[in-house]
Amino acid sequence: MKVAVFSTKPYDEKFFQQANQKAHPHELVFLEARLNHATAALAHGFEAVCVFVNDQVDATVLEKLSEGGTRVVALRCAGFNNVDLKAAQRLGVDVVRVPAYSPYAVAEHTVALIMTLNRQIHRAYHRVRDGNFALDGLLGFDLHGRTVGVVGTGQIGVEVVRIMRGFGCNVLCYDLHPNREAGQLGAEYVELDALFRDADIVTLHCPLTPETHHLIDAEAVAKMKQGVMVINTSRGAIVDTGAIIDGLKSGQVGYLGLDVYEEEGDLFFEDLSNLVLKDDVFARLLTFPNVVITGHQAFFTRNALESIAQTTLGNLTELEQSGQCANQLSG
Ligand code: NAI
Repeated sequence: MKVAVFSTKPYDEKFFQQANQKAHPHELVFLEARLNHATAALAHGFEAVCVFVNDQVDATVLEKLSEGGTRVVALRCAGFNNVDLKAAQRLGVDVVRVPAYSPYAVAEHTVALIMTLNRQIHRAYHRVRDGNFALDGLLGFDLHGRTVGVVGTGQIGVEVVRIMRGFGCNVLCYDLHPNREAGQLGAEYVELDALFRDADIVTLHCPLTPETHHLIDAEAVAKMKQGVMVINTSRGAIVDTGAIIDGLKSGQVGYLGLDVYEEEGDLFFEDLSNLVLKDDVFARLLTFPNVVITGHQAFFTRNALESIAQTTLGNLTELEQSGQCANQLSG
């Protein structure tokens, strides 16, 4: 298939080129541009487009793609909140994704944020380089015996349960569809309010849907323990950033770890270090000593990139050969 690969970074090209040598080869054209209303025309004449988390695949973009002859949207990620599936179905555009590549990558990054915030590694790093060996302000707590609340226990959430049980934590879970494996690992399913009430650490692993949009709002923050740690490695808009900032200012939220941010589309994956930061909300987040933000890098391991490239190209081959694909999404 002739594929326009949008939002390409050098690492995408490297892993896709490698995987394309092994598999049934596709004709890949790598584009740096992000897919949106203005750039959709670049895909004219391409049977497929390959997109990532911040590419815009709404009805207007899909109509433009369809007019240009595109029949397939191949997401090289698990989440698909940026795609209008109903519009795709109406236009006869197939949408495929990579449902699982490395749940370990995201789960381990989640735990890295927990450990960094708890033991103040981000502050200790700078102190030691500055010749400041004072410990005041770096006090942490034992994770052993603490209660972790996992919201969403799919592939990633259950790996977080496994790791945190290894630390000796009590784990409470909330999910619309409880996962037997989490129970076998010794976690307990509770109502969301009970999880908010009892967890020392709340970590989010559900998808972004209309139901989970701003799941963590002012009301939810008020229900949590004083000084709670909140971790979001899922999708930015699950957290109401204004509400969490208020929580940080009042001390209700004691620690915040983010790998995703509501307005990340204007920031993440680019080097903006020479520019003035225009997002005042993001700028405010950066002022807190008890906030650690990474730029949507939880997925970013060698193993995950290999797996993403292989599955994406495999999805295209499957569609090409049989007209169907196990990783196809329906509207
Ligand atoms: P998954 O589909 O295996 O699990 C999601 C779980 O959330 C399911 O068990 C589902 O029942 C549950 N869920 C759905 N709606 C819910 C609700 N309203 N309340 C509570 N639980 C709900 O997905 P997976 O692979 O575990 O990924 C989870 C999310 O992680 C993805 O949707 C994506 O947004 C995010 N992600 C982030 C990455 C990063 O680099 N930061 C990389 C990969 C995924």
